[in-house]
Amino acid sequence: MVNDLQKIAGICRFKPDVYRMVTGSLNKSLNGLPHPSPGMAGVKQRSTATEQALPLIHFENVGLRYGMGPEILRDLTFDIPKRSFQFLTGPSGAGKTTLLRLLFMSLKPTRGLIRSFGRDITQIPRDELPLLRRRIGIVFQDFRLLDHLTTYENVALPLRVRGKEESSYRQDVLELLKWVGLGERINVLPAVLSGGEKQRVAIARALIDRPELLLADEPTGNVDPPMARRLLSLFLELNRLGTAVVIATHDLALMDQLDARRMILTEGRLDIYE
Ligand SMILES: Nc1ncnc2c1ncn2[C@@H]1O[C@H](COP(=O)(O)OP(=O)(O)OP(=O)(O)O)[C@@H](O)[C@H]1O
Ligand SMILES: [Mg+2]
Repeated sequence: MVNDLQKIAGICRFKPDVYRMVTGSLNKSLNGLPHPSPGMAGVKQRSTATEQALPLIHFENVGLRYGMGPEILRDLTFDIPKRSFQFLTGPSGAGKTTLLRLLFMSLKPTRGLIRSFGRDITQIPRDELPLLRRRIGIVFQDFRLLDHLTTYENVALPLRVRGKEESSYRQDVLELLKWVGLGERINVLPAVLSGGEKQRVAIARALIDRPELLLADEPTGNVDPPMARRLLSLFLELNRLGTAVVIATHDLALMDQLDARRMILTEGRLDIYE
């Protein structure tokens, strides 16, 4: 269990009061795309005015190669602004997952500068990285659920890591699981879940703590179109509550539902359409 806690501790954190507002607001939007949530904007305003003006993440002339291989990403210069919403797209093998790994600070660039939460990542001591990563929620392309924990336990684990009493979050977890269509699957292990069900558990785990940045790698790759729309509305609602969202996807139908910023990777270069 200690290893499990350590694995998850790096990617999640929990604020039950804020989460309750997320689920409350989501429940209002069950029948369509969600509405803006008045009164939510001020929820996370703990930082100084200068911090507010900085982008969450800044890339400058970033390049990445694996080992001695060719450069996969070249001369990437862009910002992920606070509270922004963007799709990241491009053909298979273009480097979407690689770019998400750079954003999550699990990979270091081979050249260029990355500032995360205002810090040059090469200057961040190794033991501080997990703390910064806790500000980021991530949905991995291969889910990375813990096989011996149930659906409920996988989603609740980050909250246990925070030392929260189960009574303070149980309802929130159940509500979110119901919302993503897993109300009947809360007590089963990942082995018996379908690909789409596992994907939704991974999404619930990334959202439960309402991170400052959400990175989702093909989060609708295994679900049908109605569920994909439902998940998109969940991401949108989270964004309206203040989270910056980056969704890596091939799904043109999903992107066409929204007039959002598009980051397009082609042959290692990035074009951005605002
Ligand atoms: N650990 C690694 N070592 C060496 N090469 C890698 C590694 N991970 C990815 N690559 C290579 O980097 C390139 C980009 O891979 P990446 O997984 O980032 O692409 P992607 O856009 O996410 O693809 P997909 O749409 O199929 O998920 C590919 O050529 C891949 O083979
Ligand atoms: Mg990928």
